[in-house]
Amino acid sequence: MLPSTLLAVACAAVASAHTVFTYPGTRGNNLITNDTFPYGMQWMYPCGGMGTSRNRTFWPTTGGAVAFQPGWFQGHATAFMYVNLGFGTDGPGGGPLNMSNPMVPPFQILGPSKNPYPGTICLPQVPLPAGANVKAGDNATIQLVELAVHGAALYSCVDITFVEPNDDRLEILNESNCFNSNDIGFADVYTITSRASGANNVTSGAEATFFYFGRGRSHSWLSYAGWLPAVVGGLWVFL
Ligand SMILES: *[C@@H]1O[C@H](CO)[C@@H](O)[C@H](O)[C@H]1NC(C)=O
Ligand SMILES: *[C@@H]1O[C@H](CO)[C@@H](O)[C@H](O)[C@H]1NC(C)=O
Ligand SMILES: *[C@@H]1O[C@H](CO)[C@@H](O)[C@H](O)[C@H]1NC(C)=O
Ligand SMILES: *[C@@H]1O[C@H](CO)[C@@H](O)[C@H](O)[C@H]1NC(C)=O
Ligand SMILES: *[C@@H]1O[C@H](CO)[C@@H](O)[C@H](O)[C@H]1NC(C)=O
Ligand SMILES: *[C@@H]1O[C@H](CO)[C@@H](O)[C@H](O)[C@H]1NC(C)=O
Repeated sequence: MLPSTLLAVACAAVASAHTVFTYPGTRGNNLITNDTFPYGMQWMYPCGGMGTSRNRTFWPTTGGAVAFQPGWFQGHATAFMYVNLGFGTDGPGGGPLNMSNPMVPPFQILGPSKNPYPGTICLPQVPLPAGANVKAGDNATIQLVELAVHGAALYSCVDITFVEPNDDRLEILNESNCFNSNDIGFADVYTITSRASGANNVTSGAEATFFYFGRGRSHSWLSYAGWLPAVVGGLWVFL
């Protein structure tokens, strides 16, 4: 049995927002299927069919919280989650040039059912992407990608303007806008290298290398710990 960390979090509440992104905001409701988006708008790269917002929300230059509801559709009994940042407004439609800057390592969620389910996940301290250099007043877009069990990806974005972490315009974080529902678990995503690419051939299983995000390298586990879901006013339960 491969080790994985299953983190279940105690905190009961069910939010009723109509979008996948609940904090720090959203481009809007993209849970729409019509003649323009026959497969559903939310599947369109990079932001689920929504154009760049004029009503940007504020987010700290030091990184901050991201919360979302992953269970709006069938097929998310498990799902891989990615949180990326796109810098600036020089790209298509006044958005970023690209969304190629991961903010956290990918992680898996374990939902209660393959059917749609309620519940919210909060990552209380998502850092800026490695090497980011932003200042108050800069614009950016946070992209959330959710891979369903069948491999297709749902997209959702929020357009932000960076502000200093003590800025009054930041929405205050509390247990009503950033919380973890107790029926959604988390698991690490890891890679098993059974055949290395490049110069060296791997000749036997004994040489296989296991990488665990977080736990393979204890120092990086510490640096990742800051963004892991934590409960506001609740308890961690390690299973
Ligand atoms: C921006 O406006 C849209 C459309 O009214 C709304 O759905 C969305 O929640 C707003 N976003 C923010 C961050 O205020
Ligand atoms: C489908 O919905 C989108 C988003 O509301 C809208 O922009 C588009 O015009 C709609 N298409 C049709 C054919 O109604
Ligand atoms: C950031 O976005 C806001 C609102 O869309 C805009 O008024 C402002 O000029 C933008 N700032 C930069 C540096 O592009
Ligand atoms: C993505 O955009 C940034 C600017 O925001 C640029 O520096 C970087 O080279 C781009 N990366 C790719 C892979 O296009
Ligand atoms: C959370 O903060 C918002 C304002 O940002 C406030 O309206 C709401 O009542 C607060 N909720 C709790 C449970 O403190
Ligand atoms: C890796 O294996 C292939 C196929 O057996 C062989 O052709 C190649 O020379 C090997 N490469 C190295 C670096 O051993």
